[in-house]
Amino acid sequence: MDTRPFGIDFGGSGIKGALVDLGDGDFDGDRVKIKTPQPATPGAVAEVVAELLGHFPNRTGPVGITVPGVVHRGVVGSAANIDPAWIGEDADALFTKATGHEVHIVNDADAAGLAEVRYGAAKGRDGLVIVTTLGTGIGSALVYDGALVPNSELGHLELNGGDAEQYAANSARENEDLTFEEWAERLTEYYSMVEALFSPDLFVVGGGISKKSAEFLPLIDIRTEMVPATLRNRAGIVGAALWAAEAAAHH
Ligand code: BGC
Repeated sequence: MDTRPFGIDFGGSGIKGALVDLGDGDFDGDRVKIKTPQPATPGAVAEVVAELLGHFPNRTGPVGITVPGVVHRGVVGSAANIDPAWIGEDADALFTKATGHEVHIVNDADAAGLAEVRYGAAKGRDGLVIVTTLGTGIGSALVYDGALVPNSELGHLELNGGDAEQYAANSARENEDLTFEEWAERLTEYYSMVEALFSPDLFVVGGGISKKSAEFLPLIDIRTEMVPATLRNRAGIVGAALWAAEAAAHH
């Protein structure tokens, strides 16, 4: 029997999972990916998660799943970019019942934040690290001396009279066809505000676009040190597994 934790990244296009080695924060064996069902309602996603876990019949460890919304004690509290049916869903209970395994959900940016601080760009850094993910929305994780303060939701600060993520997320760059220079100006406004509110020691910038960080990170003009995420598309899976292992240990 394999008791290692399992991480699942629930994204807009794919639901991806792998066993995780918490020693080095890497996948232990293959990653399996299944297309995200449309609409991605809780029931439809639970079926895919059960199917995905079916590829790993000998594992018994805890399962962590990222969700792009507020997560409070296993219950989803917001759905800015996902099906509204998630709001109020006790997803820990739903997934645990659907799979027959102990499942703990975690906010997607919080998972990435945990992983970057434990194994990636912010490894060994103390003080306040703010990990942001620039994607469809803006996700955030506040990690102080290695401890996560979950559900910071800094993508929904007000900027320019609206929701910051609608102005400064990578989706805004794509939808409005912004150059990296134009986008970096908006990111400077965004990160300046977060910097003024929290005085962090370090910003880590993640999300799929972070692989092109050389094109825009140097153009963001703030005082705080800023580095690209290093776990890339492993951060969600690794962070979810870490979260589940810690939650299981507290039971
Ligand atoms: C959601 C957050 C999420 C972020 C990134 C935001 O719209 O409110 O919970 O972490 O998008 O997916």
